Amino acid sequence: MSNKIRWGVLGGGGDSLIGVLHRVAAGMFDAYQLVGGVFNVEKASSIAFAEQIGIPTNRIYANLDELISEEKKLPENERIQVVSVLTPNFLHFPMAKQLMKAGFNVICEKPMTMTHAEAVELETIQKQNNALFALTHTYTGYPMVRQMKKMIAAGDIGEVQKVDAQYYQGWINPIIHDKEKRSSTWRLIPEKSGISCCMGDIGVHAYQMIEYMTGMDVTSILADLNHLYDDNQMDIDGTVLLRFGKHIKGVLRASQIATGEENNFSVSVYGKKAGLRWEQENPNYLYLLEDGQPMRTLKPGHVYNSDLSLDGTKLPPGHPEGIFDAMGNIYKGMAKAVRGQAYDPAEFPGMRDGVRGMQFIETAVASHQEGNVWKQL
Ligand SMILES: NC(=O)c1ccc[n+]([C@@H]2O[C@H](COP(=O)([O-])OP(=O)(O)OC[C@H]3O[C@@H](n4cnc5c(N)ncnc54)[C@H](O)[C@@H]3O)[C@@H](O)[C@H]2O)c1
Repeated sequence: MSNKIRWGVLGGGGDSLIGVLHRVAAGMFDAYQLVGGVFNVEKASSIAFAEQIGIPTNRIYANLDELISEEKKLPENERIQVVSVLTPNFLHFPMAKQLMKAGFNVICEKPMTMTHAEAVELETIQKQNNALFALTHTYTGYPMVRQMKKMIAAGDIGEVQKVDAQYYQGWINPIIHDKEKRSSTWRLIPEKSGISCCMGDIGVHAYQMIEYMTGMDVTSILADLNHLYDDNQMDIDGTVLLRFGKHIKGVLRASQIATGEENNFSVSVYGKKAGLRWEQENPNYLYLLEDGQPMRTLKPGHVYNSDLSLDGTKLPPGHPEGIFDAMGNIYKGMAKAVRGQAYDPAEFPGMRDGVRGMQFIETAVASHQEGNVWKQL
């Protein structure tokens, strides 16, 4: 019998953006076997998709209730062990909650929930049920992101004094200027997406990355968001000032109307001794900046990298690692946890990242709505 982890998927059908990323990532280290799930709202579409990707259809269910009741009838050594929640945002919380209560481990897309209160509730449910939980802030899986985190922790740049994260996309530009389109895209509908579009979708990645890389908690923020049209309920752009303490400050700039931008996410952390900059569109380069020195470029797979970075590199130097590899590393870390093997907690983001992320989104919206005021986190 296969010793692979039995894996189920909710959402991520053939019509989805993110499904293929998770399927490739789960297959990357031969650790998971996709055995069933609910790929779409309509069961017929789920079955058709299962046939298309060549998995048996006997464990394709109509909905989550059916998945849980049918899987619970199976002996434990046949039952799904981990379920990935890849549906639109409003379903993450109810699905993750139901799954963990029923004894399944969960991999969940971000943002984790719709509200901070839900995130706190989910944290309690995870503890009560002793469930494993990974939140797919995908970019943390890149080898040079992991390297940047470990170099900051080792004191290689000295005491952190300035943080700057930029996440610019342009994909909402062609939507926002069309009244019909801006009222029908799920990401711009609060009931489906949550209270924020830009901060909820990409600002939260930048925020999580800042705390992941620096190991520091942001203590207060001031947000200035932009909706562009009065009939658009959701922010699609914004700048957030960050404070980590009296003398450590930063800025988070996120936009989905940065016309023509693709996925221009970069994070810079400057310390007393040196600075480090990483850019998502060129993820294999980590730039080391020092006073009076030429800039150095660090790359994956070399012996000077940390164990965490090297663990996320599959081939010798010179073979670029991309977004599929980054997600693969998150799945690899979760597989170690499921199998009870030792792992570095930095191998995959989890519940705390989700709770902090939801607190950030709500606080950013409140700061803006209350007149761009400082708010504690
Ligand atoms: N980690 C990342 O970098 C990243 C990138 C993109 C999207 N995401 C997140 O992934 C999630 C999905 O985004 P997407 O762009 O793939 O969305 P999408 O709209 O392209 O796809 C959603 C999928 O969920 C299915 N679905 C909807 N309701 C369902 C239900 N009740 N049961 C089962 N399936 C259902 C749809 O049929 C579709 O296949 C979002 O929460 C988004 O924030 C994360």
